[in-house]
Amino acid sequence: MDTKIIPAADETAVITAAVHLTSGNLVGLPTETVYGLGANGLNPEAVAKIFQVKGRPQDNPLILHIADPEQMELFCKDIPDSAYRLAEAFWPGPLTMVLPAKDIVPLSTRAGLPTVAVRCPDCEITRRIIRAASVPVAAPSANISGKPSTTTAQHVYHDHAGKIPLIVDGGACQVGVESTIVDLTEERPRLLRPGGITPEALIAVLGDLIIDKAVTAQIDKDEVVKAPGMKYRHYAPAEPVIIVSGSREKAAAYIHCHFEPGDRVLCFEEELPLYADCNPLSYGQEADVSTLSAGLFAALRELDDSSIGKVYARCPTGGGIAYAVQNRLQKAAAFHIVDAEVTA
Ligand code: TXA
Ligand code: MG
Repeated sequence: MDTKIIPAADETAVITAAVHLTSGNLVGLPTETVYGLGANGLNPEAVAKIFQVKGRPQDNPLILHIADPEQMELFCKDIPDSAYRLAEAFWPGPLTMVLPAKDIVPLSTRAGLPTVAVRCPDCEITRRIIRAASVPVAAPSANISGKPSTTTAQHVYHDHAGKIPLIVDGGACQVGVESTIVDLTEERPRLLRPGGITPEALIAVLGDLIIDKAVTAQIDKDEVVKAPGMKYRHYAPAEPVIIVSGSREKAAAYIHCHFEPGDRVLCFEEELPLYADCNPLSYGQEADVSTLSAGLFAALRELDDSSIGKVYARCPTGGGIAYAVQNRLQKAAAFHIVDAEVTA
């Protein structure tokens, strides 16, 4: 199969993508977070292709993307007031809500769960495509399962050339990490995945938020979790990643002491001079954490090379979007973290 990349500015992009979706084909689509691998979310055969092409475990449900916030009512039932308040505050935007599903949502889209994850992305071209197709779009991040997510059309092409007919090129994703996921099906709202909408912003609207265990710790493969996707090794390049925390000086001392030929250092732009002899790669500026979230996955993909030994990674501290960057790096490192303040 020939894989065509069509620029979002091309006047035929919307109709071409919509026709592929309504024909049951897969389309690589931009969003403000990461690129998705989209299919008609109401068509089980089309949805099955996502699992097949991505190599995704069958028990991992998909996010249903809608063009406008009001469409939440078409696919979800027993919607609590908190969902309307979150939609009002953050949609369109990088927020996914888990709500009780209506029967119209096929079981394959939600991996057999009674709930469905919905999101209205802040990406004009993709919302126009969804409107033109007149169906909600089920889309996971477009990376091959387990690998770092796709933040450019070229990343999607790299992973799926020859396997999907079309990728819509909307440029590099601004947020760079996937949407925040909040489960609203229990008495208290629960954060299943941190992302572009920060925990602080959620609490300001909800007044309450439980942080799910899967956000902060490695989950055993057999454990039952709220977001099935969180238990798999994620975002990971081929080689081991080790996060080195602590001050700039202590971290540099630790890394220089343990660095072996073939290893790499993933660091902040401000730290590049410190690692001049350690083959460093910067993923953004520590002083502007949004550049770190925007650059993280492209850097992890560049480091996905089996000839590399280990990757020593520097991670931002603090809340806000830094919390999502910490979560993705910790998952990439399978929670292997060394504190250079206490370890020599
Ligand atoms: O930013 C994003 O959310 C991107 C773009 C394409 O929109 N999509 C994305 O999808 O990150 P994916 O499939 O890579 O991650 C979806 C996560 C998985 O961890 C999955 O387990 C969880 O959402 N999820 C989906 N439906 C769920 C449900 N009904 N209950 C709990 N978790 C759910
Ligand atoms: Mg993903």
